[in-house]
Amino acid sequence: MRSKVTVVGAGNVGATTAQRIHQLGYADVVLVDVVEDLPQGKALDMLESGPVISSDAGIIGSNGYEESAGSDVVVITAGIARRPGMSRDDLLLTNMKITSAVTEEVVKYSPDTIIIAVTNPLDAMVQNVFESSGFPRNRVFGMAGVLDTARFRTFIAQELDVSVDDVQAYVLGGHGDDMVPLVRYTTVGGIPISEMLDDDDIQRLVERARQGGGEIVALLKQGSAYYAPSASITQMVEAVLLDRKRILPACAYLEGEYGINGLCVGVPVKLGGGGLEKVIEITLTDDEQAALNRSAASVQELVDVMRKAKAEG
Ligand code: NAI
Ligand code: 2OP
Repeated sequence: MRSKVTVVGAGNVGATTAQRIHQLGYADVVLVDVVEDLPQGKALDMLESGPVISSDAGIIGSNGYEESAGSDVVVITAGIARRPGMSRDDLLLTNMKITSAVTEEVVKYSPDTIIIAVTNPLDAMVQNVFESSGFPRNRVFGMAGVLDTARFRTFIAQELDVSVDDVQAYVLGGHGDDMVPLVRYTTVGGIPISEMLDDDDIQRLVERARQGGGEIVALLKQGSAYYAPSASITQMVEAVLLDRKRILPACAYLEGEYGINGLCVGVPVKLGGGGLEKVIEITLTDDEQAALNRSAASVQELVDVMRKAKAEG
């Protein structure tokens, strides 16, 4: 029997994620959205691609959660996206209400599922979904680091004219402009990046990766990135469904790791059948730890705003 994956939000990120998972063929997909007929239409269109792409997986759309019952993985992309002039943080309270309502339904119908939150501002939304779900931390985490490192890896591969496969990188911290690309752990074919590029060039690529989301928003003008995000989500879904034990960056609820307690931020983790099976702790220099602390403080500010809004009803 195939696994079951529900994708909540049938917009750009949700629909392309559903398409990628359906195309892989090893999970049936349920696509949920509040807009009447939209998820049904997109899901039927994807289903009808099955004979051409050789996928026998099922895919249906729904405006409710009954069909999502018993999902192995639920991806939450529901919410509003950035437009030019907006930061990820501008989405906070609207998307908090949306992700709280979505989580309630997800938990009701799939109490044993693993949730991957994607809605922005990412780290605050993961915190909200984690707290709203009541799930243990291994079953709620967020996608951002795979995307941020994919951007960084793309720019390095372009600069050096090498295969993207040979570029490895890690990003710590929140999915914001103060994310912390770990240059010391960035390698090309196993060789430290510092052996291949000088500091100024590395910093230029780091800055472009930090601003990578905004670069796409400025070009698209009426939405944010979705091809690289959906590819990143799919890699994480696959790590869980196929129990691949991948070491990937993800937004995780920290319980003292990296000196951070009770907050969701991006760190390297092991992803497998149990979800977030382990937070990987690596040694940081004083500067890297300080940058991580600054990034975590930005996430904490958003979490505090959410808590205040919730307390005020
Ligand atoms: P979009 O606007 O294309 O789609 C959002 C969808 O959510 C819409 O179809 C909307 O009807 C639906 N929706 C709204 N409220 C809902 C509810 N209560 N239940 C179910 N569906 C609901 O936006 P897009 O581009 O798909 O982005 C979605 C979210 O993902 C945004 O918050 C965006 O900022 C975030 N994002 C996060 C990334 C990351 O790295 N974590 C990367 C890219 C996007
Ligand atoms: C991105 O980084 C909008 O967070 C989204 O593209």
